[in-house]
Amino acid sequence: MAKKLFIKTYGCQMNVYDSERMAEALGGEGYETTATPEDADMILLNTCHIREKAAEKVYSELGRFRGLKAEKPDLKIGVAGCVAQAEGEEIIRRQPLVDLVVGPQSYHRLPELERKARAGARALDTDFPEEDKFTRLARRPKAPRGPTAFLTVQEGCDKFCSFCVVPYTRGSEVSRPAEQILNEARDLVERGVREITLLGQNVNAYHGHEGGLAGLIWALAEIGDLKRIRFTTSHPNDMDDALIEAHGACEKLMPYLHLPVQAGSDRILKAMNRKHTAESYIRLIGRLRAARPDLLLSGDFIVGFPGETEADFAETLALVEEVGFGQSYSFKYSPRPGTPAAERDQVGEAEKDERLQRLQVLLTRQQRDAQEAMVGREVSVLFEKPGRLPGQMGGKSEYLHAVHVHAPEAAKGDIRKVRVTEAAANSLGGVLV
Ligand code: 5AD
Ligand code: SF4
Repeated sequence: MAKKLFIKTYGCQMNVYDSERMAEALGGEGYETTATPEDADMILLNTCHIREKAAEKVYSELGRFRGLKAEKPDLKIGVAGCVAQAEGEEIIRRQPLVDLVVGPQSYHRLPELERKARAGARALDTDFPEEDKFTRLARRPKAPRGPTAFLTVQEGCDKFCSFCVVPYTRGSEVSRPAEQILNEARDLVERGVREITLLGQNVNAYHGHEGGLAGLIWALAEIGDLKRIRFTTSHPNDMDDALIEAHGACEKLMPYLHLPVQAGSDRILKAMNRKHTAESYIRLIGRLRAARPDLLLSGDFIVGFPGETEADFAETLALVEEVGFGQSYSFKYSPRPGTPAAERDQVGEAEKDERLQRLQVLLTRQQRDAQEAMVGREVSVLFEKPGRLPGQMGGKSEYLHAVHVHAPEAAKGDIRKVRVTEAAANSLGGVLV
């Protein structure tokens, strides 16, 4: 009988992709995935270390499996991802329930680690190995799958923003060879995928293809049945001319861009080691919108970075007003051990709370306005799954809005024109055109 694997994924889309690949790697060892930890022979937490709360959640989640492990002594518990990378030995020390710890660059060795754990040892692997995990991982299975997929093309970051652990947990920037990516994309498309989101911590620094990320996008656009291409996450300084131009010229590249700015004060941007200014960001957005006027912009923001004054924060609000974001993610600064900013004078928690709230009021209003502005417009929707009501289908617009439509004839993977008739906070309703 197949063994059962339960994976819980925290954090970013790259972890979602890694979880799929880990499940496939363990598939070769006779594991099938299950949605309930109670059925599992192995539980894997694929963790995120970007903010403090994310790491603490892992420890409390692990504690919850104590009962399960007592009932089922053969159950193996593993921690993967960025907390594993950063705190592997600490996890082994602090949490006796854990049998296996594997970092994001060594999960091709999971089958070996699993065998070790089954034999009763506690297995830890947080190397940055010489070998490329992607060439060591078994070829992906051929089974049909849903119409959207993530595909990691680049990992790591050399930017060293002073708040961020990524350069430490994911290592320096590495681009996968284009041929490897194109083969994986062709396989995904054969399995039913119509939209691929290219992933990287610094995806637009991709340099594995002539012409960088833009070159790769144009090469992917040649795959006939691949209808949509997206990418995330980008750094403003790597938005080169070719990529800006692709936003205007490549029909398959969707008009949605996640381009974190973090803050609107040049003093804070400098302290963050972002190496761009508020003005250079705004100018860049101007060029992107000239290339693709309907581009929907999404951003990341940090409030309460060490040294941030009320005047600095007001500049973040002003930048948001000026740019206009259709989607956004905002966070209180969270000191991460080992990063330069963690050592500096911290802003008080109450001030951080208050600023986050003010920023979110503004961002939420912008998001709602952007949703409402869609009413009456036509969008194209890639259907992903049946909606809640009979005959309804749900999918995403080119701008990544969730859209529900009555479309009893439509199938998963179809792309249809839809006229938007209503806007809710997080989704749109419409009718087939
Ligand atoms: N504190 C708060 N937010 C952070 N981010 C990264 N590191 C921190 C931190 N130490 C945010 C940034 C980044 C997003 C992925 O998470 O906004 O773009
Ligand atoms: Fe972190 Fe900055 Fe690199 Fe993004 S660009 S992963 S925020 S160091």
